[in-house]
Amino acid sequence: MTDLSPSDLAKDAAARAGVALVQDGMRLGLGTGSTAVFMVHRLAERIRAEGLRLRCAATSRATCDLAGQLGIHIEELDEIGWLDLTLDGADEIDPDLNLIKGGGGAHLREKIVAAASDRMVVIADPTKVVETLGAFHLPVEVIPFGVETTIVHIRRLLDSLDLTHRPILPRQRDGRIFHTDEDNLILDLSLDVITDCSAISSGLHAIPGVVEHGLFLGMCDLALVGAPDGSVIEM
Ligand code: 5RP
Repeated sequence: MTDLSPSDLAKDAAARAGVALVQDGMRLGLGTGSTAVFMVHRLAERIRAEGLRLRCAATSRATCDLAGQLGIHIEELDEIGWLDLTLDGADEIDPDLNLIKGGGGAHLREKIVAAASDRMVVIADPTKVVETLGAFHLPVEVIPFGVETTIVHIRRLLDSLDLTHRPILPRQRDGRIFHTDEDNLILDLSLDVITDCSAISSGLHAIPGVVEHGLFLGMCDLALVGAPDGSVIEM
């Protein structure tokens, strides 16, 4: 790969460090997003060079398609059953390794895959490391049926938690309403600062119509943060 921007060099450094954790015979979860794209490329290189025998599940159609193009066979998560390691990106990482994910709209499958893994390792560039979660919008996957009433419930929840928020609208991509791999919608909550992650997590889970939110609390075991010079910091 040539002519990479500093940000891409950092992502690639993190991706290489993540892929260095892979051992022959492992069952792997493959994440989604631009950092995960580097990871899938680096993994394909190692498989080709070392003949690694792996079983892999993907967290999105996009990752499944890329892996297939690079010769990595993807199986359904249920065919594999349980995973040794998942490598995935993140939108924000706090000092306790709590995360916001879902910038790519894949956090539902990402959370299912991470929860079915002995170890979840996040690969990221340094812009993802924050003191407090919330500057990045919090993605919430909701079913399309009754979405306006789901939004009312979410607004009431945020008000009850004294969280200031901006209008809540379904995510758009390329001028159209975005649909997830499950054909659901994403509501992006602009909160600025999330002081009580557990309260918002349990509050959102209690709302009918909410499928899953992008807070990953206590799920990440290690974060590998790459830098443009190729160095990697472990968190
Ligand atoms: C997709 C995700 C991604 O992992 C997250 O958005 C980070 O993406 P990128 O590596 O492109 O910054 O959660 O749903």
